[in-house]
Amino acid sequence: MSSTVFTNIGELTTNGGEGVLHDAALVVDGERIAWIGPSARAPAADERVDVDGRAVLPGWVDSHTHLAFAGDRSAEFAARMAGESYAAGGIKVSVERTRAASSEELRGLMAERVRAANRGGTTWLETKTGYGLNVETEERSARLAAEVSQDVTYLGAHVVPDGWDADDYVGLVTGKMLDAVRPHVTWIDVFCERGAFDEDQSRAVLQAGLDAGLGLRVHGNQLGPGPGVKLAVELGAASVDHCNFLDADDIERLGASTTVATLLPACDLSTRQPFPPARALIDAGATVALASNCNPGTSYTTSMGFCVATAVLQMHMTVQEAVWSATMGGARALGRHEGALPIGALAPGFRADLQVLDAPSVTHLAYRPGMQLTQAVWQAGAPIA
Ligand code: NIG
Repeated sequence: MSSTVFTNIGELTTNGGEGVLHDAALVVDGERIAWIGPSARAPAADERVDVDGRAVLPGWVDSHTHLAFAGDRSAEFAARMAGESYAAGGIKVSVERTRAASSEELRGLMAERVRAANRGGTTWLETKTGYGLNVETEERSARLAAEVSQDVTYLGAHVVPDGWDADDYVGLVTGKMLDAVRPHVTWIDVFCERGAFDEDQSRAVLQAGLDAGLGLRVHGNQLGPGPGVKLAVELGAASVDHCNFLDADDIERLGASTTVATLLPACDLSTRQPFPPARALIDAGATVALASNCNPGTSYTTSMGFCVATAVLQMHMTVQEAVWSATMGGARALGRHEGALPIGALAPGFRADLQVLDAPSVTHLAYRPGMQLTQAVWQAGAPIA
């Protein structure tokens, strides 16, 4: 096992008790962080990387992506930009393309998306099924997703496919389809929204997931007010994602629970939805995560830097809050912030997932939006970009 010391760090965002350090150093031993502190006191290591005054921060933890898809929906996007509203009907277009793709094609597309995410500083990502919506393609999507992620979410309950009665489809999702994907997934999710699944159907899906030993996630309150947040908190979901339309009770519930509010700013831009009330959530004590929601319909980007910049510029988060939410917030949304090899912080014992910015401070992520500022990326102690 070899060790590396990173020296001359202009600004080190630790997300730990040390806060933000200046003129700092960090030692990686094998796959873990072994030491952080002032550059002048840095211990010796096998290798030395001088980052020349640049900012170092944890790798992004992208806790909400839909990478298992084929085809694009740029025509739908163009129509939306010309005034059409988003109603989730386009999901069926992606389902058709995904079913028709070969496994090799799908595997290649997903690997390419993961590489793009890595180049942008992402060192951990969750990804979902949900463009199969039959037993065969949901199982295949879950299996291929497990090749690129340790956090795979089963989203058979994305929309009701054509030709199905909604309750019959929920029966399939909670029965034969769940059995087929179960070996490959650790989470279950449901799109609890008008036009997708109502409260009772969503509850049935989540309960079946709980009974099968899966953790819970919910797509909720994206297109209008609804029961998504209430249900997620009641059932102890790890995360409720989107959260565009929250009332005062929803905000209070999230503030008093361990359910993370995962906000998806790139999706809000692309669908022209009102941004979620990030400030009110933070002020109420809720844990907020930021994620890319990379998918072909509402957010075709893996760029967490873009999401951080948008959260700052449009959602009134501070840069430090946004960076925390895109790293430790994501880790909490996935329950990965503690345990044998935690992620989300640069502190001794954490997995050595870090990125070096070509900038002296994380402030530049929002100050220079759209610039590719991630210069180098280490994952589990090894350079990947
Ligand atoms: O998170 N909200 C539901 N699912 C995706 C979008 C799906 C699509 O339009 O393809 C989302 O935005």
